[in-house]
Amino acid sequence: MFSIFNKTNKKDAIGIDIGPSSVKVVQLRKEDERIVLVTYGEIELGPYAGLAPSQVAILGEDKMTEVIKDLLKETKVTCKEAVMAVDSSAAYVSTITVPKLPPNEEKFMIPIEARKYIPIPISDVKLDWWQIPSKEENDRTKEIVLVAVKNETLESYARIAKNLGFVNLEVEIEGFSLVRSLLNNNQGFFIFVDLGSIYTTVNVIKDGVVIDMNIINHGSQEGTVQLSKSLSLTVETAEETKRTFGYVGDSSNEYVKEILKLSSYPLFGELARLLLMYERKYNQVIEGVVLSGGGAKVAGVLDVYKDTVHSDAVIATPFDKIVYPDFLKNIISKVGPTYSVAVGLALKKLL
Ligand SMILES: Nc1ncnc2c1ncn2[C@@H]1O[C@H](COP(=O)(O)OP(=O)(O)OP(=O)(O)O)[C@@H](O)[C@H]1O
Ligand SMILES: [Mg+2]
Repeated sequence: MFSIFNKTNKKDAIGIDIGPSSVKVVQLRKEDERIVLVTYGEIELGPYAGLAPSQVAILGEDKMTEVIKDLLKETKVTCKEAVMAVDSSAAYVSTITVPKLPPNEEKFMIPIEARKYIPIPISDVKLDWWQIPSKEENDRTKEIVLVAVKNETLESYARIAKNLGFVNLEVEIEGFSLVRSLLNNNQGFFIFVDLGSIYTTVNVIKDGVVIDMNIINHGSQEGTVQLSKSLSLTVETAEETKRTFGYVGDSSNEYVKEILKLSSYPLFGELARLLLMYERKYNQVIEGVVLSGGGAKVAGVLDVYKDTVHSDAVIATPFDKIVYPDFLKNIISKVGPTYSVAVGLALKKLL
């Protein structure tokens, strides 16, 4: 029998983003030229370690496999083609200048050069690099993007993926996923900031490519901890207070706003310093800053950002390129920033 459905060219993929406080999954389907949202969800790690839901938890591989299994079941994921994100703390990205050499010599020289930049032994990481196309070429040197990921992390992900029955596993650094889900303009100099639970990842994007990455050792959990300490609240209540009132505050308790703002200054102060440093290092004006991650969902974050960094930012909308039912519009706009990495990961197999 003739069926129009036979003509549809379908392919599915899942993106799995393992963070220190939660794991996120997104399943996407490519149907001809459209990319459709099949399912998505998040599971918090705290309860698996006897902690409160929003708290950071260090789980072993077996526990992590169990957590992801639960998440896939809850979200009714139907696909095994997976892409996983390397947590930024296990990765290193930077531009370095190296002498121009024939490829066979370069292969030996770059790992030696990389030792100067990477704070762990080169034998413990997988290295990759590529040249940045530069207008000001010279004969002697060139700029490369150097990427390193801890072997230990890659091996652990491979084992978890195997235990979950994933096929054709791909792994990438979070910043590269953000480019796929958040970048609208392939030309220009942008900063993608992922506001996580315990740290913040700052990705420098030039003409559609990640050229630098730094980690700020401050995250959104500090707000929760400060609220809990200063107002003698349980961690659960403090987290709820942060999620409900954010930097906008609660009219019945003027301290909520002040405590949260104060707790954000180290993070945004450090971010401001990094942004200035990037403008100098790359001799470019930053054209836009996008905030993603759970920390970008705290109400009033853009105002506090502006007060501290003295420029504007926007909140990530990673589902912009994805087709989903109208009734999900509200919820997707609320949860969006959390799934910025996971959407980009799934897109890796579909674009
Ligand atoms: N609806 C919300 N409103 C306010 N804050 C939120 C909300 N949801 C999550 N958060 C905060 O976001 C943080 C978690 O962010 P995210 O899930 O991006 O972190 P992570 O992925 O575990 O960490 P990382 O990005 O460092 O790997 C927590 O501190 C949490 O309090
Ligand atoms: Mg994260």
